[in-house]
Amino acid sequence: MIVPTFDERENAVELIRRLHAVLQEIDHEIIVVDDDSPDGTANAVRDIARNDTRVRVLQRVGRRGLASACIEGMMATAAPSIAVIDADLQHDERLLPAMLAKLKSENLDLVAGTRHAEGGSAAALTERRASLSNLGKRLSRIVSHADLSDPMSGFFIVDRRYLDEVVRSLSGSGFKILLDLVASSRRAPRIGELPYEFRPRLHGESKLDVVVGLEYLQLLADKLIGDVIPPRFVLFALVGGSGVLLHLLVLYATLQWTTFPTAQLIATVVGMTSNFFLNNLFTWRDHRLRGRAAFIGLLKFYAACSIGAFLNLRVATFAVQHGAAWYVAGFAGLVIGSIWNFAVTATTTWKRRRGRYWNADVK
Ligand code: GDD
Ligand code: MN
Repeated sequence: MIVPTFDERENAVELIRRLHAVLQEIDHEIIVVDDDSPDGTANAVRDIARNDTRVRVLQRVGRRGLASACIEGMMATAAPSIAVIDADLQHDERLLPAMLAKLKSENLDLVAGTRHAEGGSAAALTERRASLSNLGKRLSRIVSHADLSDPMSGFFIVDRRYLDEVVRSLSGSGFKILLDLVASSRRAPRIGELPYEFRPRLHGESKLDVVVGLEYLQLLADKLIGDVIPPRFVLFALVGGSGVLLHLLVLYATLQWTTFPTAQLIATVVGMTSNFFLNNLFTWRDHRLRGRAAFIGLLKFYAACSIGAFLNLRVATFAVQHGAAWYVAGFAGLVIGSIWNFAVTATTTWKRRRGRYWNADVK
């Protein structure tokens, strides 16, 4: 059993109790993958683990992400069948024995709990969440031909052999690990489904937010074009586009009271600063810099982007001199400059360096 947690102290303790009860007859272990929750979930679970060898904690420091937590948890067990369940008791743990039996008796790769098939329900979802969930479901059809009625679910059991087959193709970003698993396969996976009722959360609150939605789009994009263009680059380019707009706006505004070079300088700094923070928030969310690290990151970002701008100019000028139309030259400069910026800021601004693991990034 893999249980991803973030701020689920009370829920996790209760879930472990329930899991042991429902899995009494089945040989099992529980791995709680906690992203260093401020509420002390990891310690609470370790207190249990001290007297119960079937329970373990994988505490990730400086990391965030539901999907990657599930993947690392799954890779940390030797079990032949691996189930993933939320800690907040929204998934019905009583379904687990039936899921395991189905996986084995029908020789399936994966059995998912579904809120949509007959007998299942998502009544505990608010209307807005329900329509978001439906939208996500429709979008998922684009990347996966697997016939899942609830691809957004995070409640499933997977056969170790199937996991080994796809683990290197997983994208691991965002929330939707099940969709990632089925969409990463080269063949049609053998999938079964069992209905359950999605319950309201016991304690605490959901971690789903706008950024998680964006990460979902990123997962879809990765499955669609990830082999050609890295999805992070797409985000980076989108942020870059917003920076250009902002630049022009600021340029227009400041030109009202100052000379062009000054206005251009102000617009450039504002654009770069905004780009840095947006990239820090979205493109590199999983490596997000905070505090002092963010300030140093910003300076590095300025430096890298200045060289990128210089490159951009050189390429565009070169192209114009060799007879390219202005828009072709301008675009070529932009592409080369952005690739440079992306590659350099990826390795200097956001990439963890050896030995800096503990303080360089994120919660
Ligand atoms: N390790 C780790 N890291 N765990 C996390 C993180 C993270 O960054 N974010 C969330 N979790 C854990 C939560 O503690 C919880 O146990 C589980 O992942 C699901 O998170 P919720 O915040 O409860 O998400 P939800 O209820 O909105 O989403 C549920 O419904 C979706 C379908 O609508 C989950 O079941 C999803 O898996 C499911 O896809
Ligand atoms: Mn939940």
